[in-house]
Amino acid sequence: MNKLFQTGDGSNSLMSEQFGVSYHSKHGAVQETQHVFIDAAFNHLSQTKIKILEIGFGTGLNALMTLHSNRMAKKQVEYVAVEAYPIAMETVDSLDYHTILKDKTLETVLKTMHQLDAHVPTEIESNFKFEKRIMLFEDIDESNEYDIIYFDAFAPNAQPELWDIELLSKMYRALRKGGILTTYCAKGQVKRNLKSLGFTIESIPGPPGKREMTRAKKPL
Ligand SMILES: C[S@@+](CC[C@H](N)C(=O)[O-])C[C@H]1O[C@@H](n2cnc3c(N)ncnc32)[C@H](O)[C@@H]1O
Repeated sequence: MNKLFQTGDGSNSLMSEQFGVSYHSKHGAVQETQHVFIDAAFNHLSQTKIKILEIGFGTGLNALMTLHSNRMAKKQVEYVAVEAYPIAMETVDSLDYHTILKDKTLETVLKTMHQLDAHVPTEIESNFKFEKRIMLFEDIDESNEYDIIYFDAFAPNAQPELWDIELLSKMYRALRKGGILTTYCAKGQVKRNLKSLGFTIESIPGPPGKREMTRAKKPL
Protein backbone atom coordinates (compact mmCIF):
# COMPACT_ATOMS: atom_id res chain seq x y z
CA MET A 1 0.00 0.00 0.00
CA ASN A 2 1.36 3.44 -0.89
CA LYS A 3 1.63 5.85 2.03
CA LEU A 4 -0.08 9.26 1.91
CA PHE A 5 1.92 12.30 3.04
CA GLN A 6 1.57 16.07 2.85
CA THR A 7 4.06 18.03 0.73
CA GLY A 8 5.42 21.55 1.36
CA ASP A 9 2.62 23.40 -0.45
CA GLY A 10 -0.07 21.56 1.53
CA SER A 11 -1.02 19.15 -1.26
CA ASN A 12 -0.86 15.40 -0.75
CA SER A 13 1.40 12.86 -2.42
CA LEU A 14 2.23 9.19 -2.03
CA MET A 15 5.35 7.34 -1.02
CA SER A 16 5.67 4.28 -3.25
CA GLU A 17 6.17 1.11 -1.30
CA GLN A 18 7.23 -0.73 -4.48
CA PHE A 19 9.90 1.76 -5.61
CA GLY A 20 10.81 3.49 -2.32
CA VAL A 21 10.34 7.04 -3.67
CA SER A 22 7.62 9.69 -3.62
CA TYR A 23 5.27 10.40 -6.51
CA HIS A 24 5.99 14.15 -6.36
CA SER A 25 8.46 16.68 -4.97
CA LYS A 26 8.32 16.88 -1.18
CA HIS A 27 8.40 20.67 -1.61
CA GLY A 28 4.96 20.63 -3.23
CA ALA A 29 3.04 18.26 -5.50
CA VAL A 30 0.65 20.83 -6.95
CA GLN A 31 3.33 23.48 -7.48
CA GLU A 32 5.60 20.91 -9.19
CA THR A 33 2.86 19.84 -11.61
CA GLN A 34 1.95 23.46 -12.32
CA HIS A 35 5.57 24.41 -13.03
CA VAL A 36 7.00 21.38 -14.85
CA PHE A 37 4.03 20.20 -16.87
CA ILE A 38 1.34 22.90 -17.09
CA ASP A 39 3.51 26.02 -17.45
CA ALA A 40 6.62 24.56 -19.15
CA ALA A 41 4.68 22.37 -21.57
CA PHE A 42 0.87 22.73 -21.79
CA ASN A 43 0.87 26.57 -21.63
CA HIS A 44 4.14 26.81 -23.55
CA LEU A 45 2.74 25.51 -26.84
CA SER A 46 0.50 27.99 -28.61
CA GLN A 47 -1.42 25.55 -30.77
CA THR A 48 -5.05 24.91 -29.86
CA LYS A 49 -5.16 21.19 -30.68
CA ILE A 50 -2.85 19.23 -28.41
CA LYS A 51 -2.21 15.54 -27.91
CA ILE A 52 -0.40 14.67 -24.68
CA LEU A 53 1.31 11.46 -23.58
CA GLU A 54 1.85 11.12 -19.86
CA ILE A 55 4.57 8.79 -18.64
CA GLY A 56 3.28 7.74 -15.28
CA PHE A 57 -0.41 8.46 -14.54
CA GLY A 58 0.17 7.72 -10.83
CA THR A 59 -2.20 9.74 -8.66
CA GLY A 60 -3.72 11.46 -11.72
CA LEU A 61 -2.63 14.94 -10.56
CA ASN A 62 -1.00 15.93 -13.87
CA ALA A 63 -4.06 14.86 -15.83
CA LEU A 64 -6.42 16.56 -13.38
CA MET A 65 -4.53 19.86 -13.44
CA THR A 66 -4.30 19.77 -17.25
CA LEU A 67 -8.08 19.36 -17.47
CA HIS A 68 -8.51 22.14 -14.89
CA SER A 69 -6.21 24.52 -16.85
CA ASN A 70 -8.01 23.66 -20.04
CA ARG A 71 -11.31 24.97 -18.70
CA MET A 72 -9.73 28.43 -19.21
CA ALA A 73 -7.43 27.61 -22.15
CA LYS A 74 -10.20 25.83 -24.11
CA LYS A 75 -7.79 23.88 -26.30
CA GLN A 76 -8.84 20.62 -27.91
CA VAL A 77 -6.95 18.12 -25.77
CA GLU A 78 -6.37 14.42 -26.24
CA TYR A 79 -4.65 12.98 -23.18
CA VAL A 80 -3.12 9.50 -23.04
CA ALA A 81 -1.87 8.43 -19.60
CA VAL A 82 0.27 5.31 -19.29
CA GLU A 83 0.60 3.40 -16.04
CA ALA A 84 1.53 -0.18 -15.19
CA TYR A 85 0.72 -0.13 -11.48
CA PRO A 86 -2.58 1.69 -10.81
CA ILE A 87 -3.20 2.87 -7.26
CA ALA A 88 -6.12 1.61 -5.15
CA MET A 89 -9.43 3.50 -5.28
CA GLU A 90 -9.37 4.07 -1.50
CA THR A 91 -6.01 5.82 -1.99
CA VAL A 92 -7.51 8.00 -4.75
CA ASP A 93 -10.26 9.03 -2.32
CA SER A 94 -7.70 10.18 0.25
CA LEU A 95 -5.74 12.47 -2.13
CA ASP A 96 -8.22 15.34 -1.77
CA TYR A 97 -6.82 17.41 -4.65
CA HIS A 98 -10.16 19.14 -5.25
CA THR A 99 -9.82 20.93 -1.89
CA ILE A 100 -6.39 22.41 -2.54
CA LEU A 101 -7.39 23.26 -6.13
CA LYS A 102 -10.55 24.88 -4.74
CA ASP A 103 -12.91 23.13 -7.13
CA LYS A 104 -15.32 20.51 -5.83
CA THR A 105 -16.12 19.27 -9.35
CA LEU A 106 -12.58 17.90 -9.63
CA GLU A 107 -13.36 15.19 -7.06
CA THR A 108 -15.64 13.40 -9.53
CA VAL A 109 -13.27 14.07 -12.42
CA LEU A 110 -10.35 12.38 -10.65
CA LYS A 111 -12.50 9.39 -9.68
CA THR A 112 -13.73 9.08 -13.26
CA MET A 113 -10.17 9.11 -14.60
CA HIS A 114 -9.20 6.29 -12.27
CA GLN A 115 -12.37 4.24 -12.80
CA LEU A 116 -12.71 4.47 -16.58
CA ASP A 117 -12.05 1.30 -18.52
CA ALA A 118 -8.49 1.23 -19.75
CA HIS A 119 -7.71 1.64 -23.46
CA VAL A 120 -11.01 3.42 -24.21
CA PRO A 121 -10.64 7.09 -25.24
CA THR A 122 -13.49 8.98 -23.54
CA GLU A 123 -14.53 12.62 -23.71
CA ILE A 124 -14.76 13.21 -19.96
CA GLU A 125 -15.45 16.92 -20.40
CA SER A 126 -15.88 19.12 -23.45
CA ASN A 127 -12.53 19.56 -25.22
CA PHE A 128 -10.87 16.92 -23.08
CA LYS A 129 -10.56 13.36 -24.36
CA PHE A 130 -8.86 11.03 -21.90
CA GLU A 131 -7.48 7.53 -22.27
CA LYS A 132 -5.68 5.49 -19.64
CA ARG A 133 -3.44 2.71 -20.86
CA ILE A 134 -2.50 0.03 -18.38
CA MET A 135 0.83 -1.11 -19.75
CA LEU A 136 4.59 -0.81 -19.31
CA PHE A 137 6.29 2.29 -20.70
CA GLU A 138 8.74 -0.10 -22.35
CA ASP A 139 5.91 -1.39 -24.60
CA ILE A 140 5.05 2.02 -26.08
CA ASP A 141 5.48 1.82 -29.83
CA GLU A 142 4.05 4.88 -31.61
CA SER A 143 5.35 7.32 -34.20
CA ASN A 144 4.62 11.02 -34.67
CA GLU A 145 1.54 11.01 -32.42
CA TYR A 146 2.09 13.53 -29.65
CA ASP A 147 2.73 17.26 -29.25
CA ILE A 148 3.73 16.93 -25.61
CA ILE A 149 5.20 14.22 -23.41
CA TYR A 150 4.96 14.70 -19.67
CA PHE A 151 7.92 12.50 -18.70
CA ASP A 152 7.13 11.89 -15.04
CA ALA A 153 8.82 8.57 -14.28
CA PHE A 154 10.34 7.96 -10.87
CA ALA A 155 13.82 9.46 -10.59
CA PRO A 156 16.90 7.86 -12.21
CA ASN A 157 18.26 6.68 -8.86
CA ALA A 158 15.06 4.63 -8.32
CA GLN A 159 14.46 3.44 -11.91
CA PRO A 160 17.61 4.10 -14.00
CA GLU A 161 16.35 1.91 -16.86
CA LEU A 162 13.58 4.42 -17.61
CA TRP A 163 16.06 7.20 -18.37
CA ASP A 164 18.41 5.43 -20.75
CA ILE A 165 18.55 5.65 -24.53
CA GLU A 166 16.20 2.76 -25.19
CA LEU A 167 13.08 4.23 -23.61
CA LEU A 168 13.96 7.83 -24.47
CA SER A 169 14.28 6.89 -28.15
CA LYS A 170 10.69 5.59 -28.02
CA MET A 171 9.70 9.00 -26.64
CA TYR A 172 11.51 10.75 -29.49
CA ARG A 173 9.72 8.59 -32.02
CA ALA A 174 6.30 9.09 -30.37
CA LEU A 175 6.58 12.90 -30.58
CA ARG A 176 5.61 14.90 -33.64
CA LYS A 177 8.20 17.27 -35.13
CA GLY A 178 8.24 20.42 -33.00
CA GLY A 179 6.84 18.47 -30.06
CA ILE A 180 8.26 18.80 -26.54
CA LEU A 181 9.07 16.54 -23.62
CA THR A 182 9.31 18.06 -20.17
CA THR A 183 10.66 16.51 -17.02
CA TYR A 184 11.59 17.66 -13.53
CA CYS A 185 14.92 15.84 -14.02
CA ALA A 186 18.02 17.90 -14.83
CA LYS A 187 20.64 15.17 -14.52
CA GLY A 188 23.58 15.59 -16.92
CA GLN A 189 23.49 12.02 -18.21
CA VAL A 190 19.77 12.24 -18.99
CA LYS A 191 20.30 15.48 -20.92
CA ARG A 192 23.20 13.89 -22.82
CA ASN A 193 20.99 10.91 -23.69
CA LEU A 194 18.23 13.20 -24.97
CA LYS A 195 20.72 15.26 -26.97
CA SER A 196 22.26 12.19 -28.58
CA LEU A 197 18.80 11.21 -29.86
CA GLY A 198 18.39 14.52 -31.68
CA PHE A 199 16.46 16.55 -29.11
CA THR A 200 17.27 20.24 -28.60
CA ILE A 201 17.70 20.73 -24.87
CA GLU A 202 16.69 23.67 -22.73
CA SER A 203 17.62 23.79 -19.06
CA ILE A 204 15.06 26.05 -17.44
CA PRO A 205 14.44 27.01 -13.79
CA GLY A 206 12.85 24.20 -11.83
CA PRO A 207 9.95 24.33 -9.35
CA PRO A 208 10.63 25.49 -5.77
CA GLY A 209 13.38 23.32 -4.25
CA LYS A 210 14.92 22.48 -7.63
CA ARG A 211 17.37 24.72 -9.48
CA GLU A 212 16.73 23.35 -12.98
CA MET A 213 14.41 21.16 -15.02
CA THR A 214 14.57 20.02 -18.65
CA ARG A 215 12.54 20.81 -21.73
CA ALA A 216 13.53 18.81 -24.81
CA LYS A 217 12.25 19.67 -28.29
CA LYS A 218 12.08 17.41 -31.33
CA PRO A 219 13.32 19.68 -34.14
CA LEU A 220 10.95 20.68 -36.95
C1 LIG B 1 6.49 9.79 -10.43
S1 LIG B 1 5.16 8.67 -10.53
C2 LIG B 1 4.00 9.49 -11.57
C3 LIG B 1 3.28 10.63 -10.89
C4 LIG B 1 2.07 11.07 -11.67
N1 LIG B 1 2.40 11.72 -12.90
C5 LIG B 1 1.11 11.88 -10.85
O1 LIG B 1 0.64 12.96 -11.32
O2 LIG B 1 0.78 11.44 -9.75
C6 LIG B 1 5.77 7.40 -11.66
C7 LIG B 1 4.73 6.39 -12.06
O3 LIG B 1 5.31 5.45 -12.97
C8 LIG B 1 4.74 4.17 -12.73
N2 LIG B 1 5.67 3.16 -13.28
C9 LIG B 1 6.87 2.79 -12.79
N3 LIG B 1 7.51 1.93 -13.64
C10 LIG B 1 6.69 1.78 -14.69
C11 LIG B 1 6.80 1.07 -15.93
N4 LIG B 1 7.90 0.36 -16.23
N5 LIG B 1 5.77 1.12 -16.82
C12 LIG B 1 4.64 1.84 -16.51
N6 LIG B 1 4.48 2.54 -15.35
C13 LIG B 1 5.50 2.53 -14.46
C14 LIG B 1 4.60 4.13 -11.24
O4 LIG B 1 3.65 3.18 -10.84
C15 LIG B 1 4.17 5.56 -10.92
O5 LIG B 1 2.78 5.70 -10.92
